[in-house]
Amino acid sequence: MAEGALDGVDVNWGTEELFLGELGPDSFFLFGHMLSATLDEVASRDEIGPWFGGRVLDVACGAGGDVAQLISSGWEAHGLEPSKRMLDLARERNGGTEEKTLLARGIAEALPYRDASFDRVMCKGSFDHFADPQLALAEIRRVLRPNGRLVVSIANFDALSCRLGKALKPILRVTNADFNDGSRPYWRIPADHTFEGNLRTVLSLGRQTFALERYYGVSLMWSFPWWVWMLKHAPSRLSSISLRLANRLGRQHPSMADVIVVSWRKR
Ligand SMILES: C[S@@+](CC[C@H](N)C(=O)[O-])C[C@H]1O[C@@H](n2cnc3c(N)ncnc32)[C@H](O)[C@@H]1O
Repeated sequence: MAEGALDGVDVNWGTEELFLGELGPDSFFLFGHMLSATLDEVASRDEIGPWFGGRVLDVACGAGGDVAQLISSGWEAHGLEPSKRMLDLARERNGGTEEKTLLARGIAEALPYRDASFDRVMCKGSFDHFADPQLALAEIRRVLRPNGRLVVSIANFDALSCRLGKALKPILRVTNADFNDGSRPYWRIPADHTFEGNLRTVLSLGRQTFALERYYGVSLMWSFPWWVWMLKHAPSRLSSISLRLANRLGRQHPSMADVIVVSWRKR
């Protein structure tokens, strides 16, 4: 890695900012479906059917859980991560599969890989952490093979639940303790984000350099207190049906969904 490459990057990033208080059924649903949607998109081969076994790079792989899943699906998976804490966890988790996993320390804006060396690049929950998202995109484009795919999944801070949260703030204050740890309401962008993730900003990211394949939403109403209360207190079958129905709506209306998944193809 070039000297100074990690300047300004939180090289000890941890998950403290991510999880606000106790996780409810909405959070388990969201995290599970964000992961499966991202991995499905990585594997999807348009009309021909699913595809596994190529070289995939997980940029900002965090603790390496997704890299492990990719390996178990047959990919040659590489993970890149600047945080030493996260990388240590990823190395521990992927220790048994050294020959198929390559974990590296570095940043998205200076990828330590050869040109045109990956079939897929994925980036889950991380693009809005990058200091220079356009430079990261240029680097991702460089390491992708012709027709290679980039899959980005990102939190939507213009989601319906965020809009409702902001609008109903005076009423929700009463139950503040139910949905946050007192320091940050869920609709406020965390300090370590470099831009607001929403449909417009996400789609504009790849507009110049990639061909858009598709995009959709995952989950609806995440963290909205009344929704979480209902999910916790309703019979589990009703709770699970409600989550699935809301997810279907979110899929069709990504501007309102909690997470947006986009796939682009290298032109
Ligand atoms: C919210 S975490 C997501 C981690 C993982 N992709 C996941 O889904 O669990 C964001 C990650 O972005 C990493 N990160 C921050 N700035 C980065 C950069 N410039 N290049 C690469 N990764 C970066 C952080 O260290 C952190 O692991």
